[in-house]
Amino acid sequence: MKIVKTIDEVRSIVKGWRAEGLTVGLVPTMGYLHEGHASLIDASHRDNDRTVVSDFVNPMQFGPTEDLASYPRDLKRDAALAEAHGADIIFNPEPSEMYHEGFSSFVDMTVLTQELCGLSRPVHFRGVCTVVSKLFNIVKPDRAYFGKKDAQQLAVIRHMADDLNMDLEIIGCPIIREEDGLAKSSRNTYLSDEERKAALILSKSIFAGMDMVKHGCTTAAEITGAMKKLIDSEPLAKIDYVKLVDVATMQQIEKLDRPALCAIAVYIGKTRLIDNFFTEDVK
Ligand code: PAF
Repeated sequence: MKIVKTIDEVRSIVKGWRAEGLTVGLVPTMGYLHEGHASLIDASHRDNDRTVVSDFVNPMQFGPTEDLASYPRDLKRDAALAEAHGADIIFNPEPSEMYHEGFSSFVDMTVLTQELCGLSRPVHFRGVCTVVSKLFNIVKPDRAYFGKKDAQQLAVIRHMADDLNMDLEIIGCPIIREEDGLAKSSRNTYLSDEERKAALILSKSIFAGMDMVKHGCTTAAEITGAMKKLIDSEPLAKIDYVKLVDVATMQQIEKLDRPALCAIAVYIGKTRLIDNFFTEDVK
């Protein structure tokens, strides 16, 4: 497996693969890879002849007070994990390679991005859509793989690919959890021992919400109310949002009369974590 730093080199390698008639999968990441990323690389390795993992902490998707500077980075460790799971290239550009001086074109979306994480992270999805479009243009993959933990991001990227006639398949892969239930995330490394224990309140509330849906509750306020109560019982937790939204529009709903996403964002100390479930996966 090769670590590639430039757009020209990725393009030339992928061109060679294409000339041989090989298919290409892309796993976009911001590095500090964990088993969640590994499952995406596994899926790409299974579906495609070649797999490119991008490893780029994208400055454009962080707000001015967010954790860009402290976001964990470890390329050596990432390379070992990616290789063990069958990646052929890690694309690890410098920010200046992705955003040259005078860079001034953005991909923005006026739907799906106004709710949930879009409310508390106003510049986030514009940064995600821009960098993901660039990665699609650089690698030109047949398929690209994203985790369902970032459910809103997955919906936004599917919508963008459809709107802009991007010629690839977007594949969503299941959330991977720690044994005790906490959803895997690179940001879990920010948690102290005490916060790590407190963070379990996210998955506990997700499982409680799922249970209510399983037992036939269809009133959104009842489900989110019970989940909020549970999260509020944890002193280190501060709710950003707990919402049930229509999967197609990301707009809040009152009744579970259509496929819905239950999504939460909770601060544990200074660390903002997300988790979710799709009601369709519960039934
Ligand atoms: O999900 C992530 O890690 C990032 O948002 C992505 C898709 C790699 C874009 O920077």
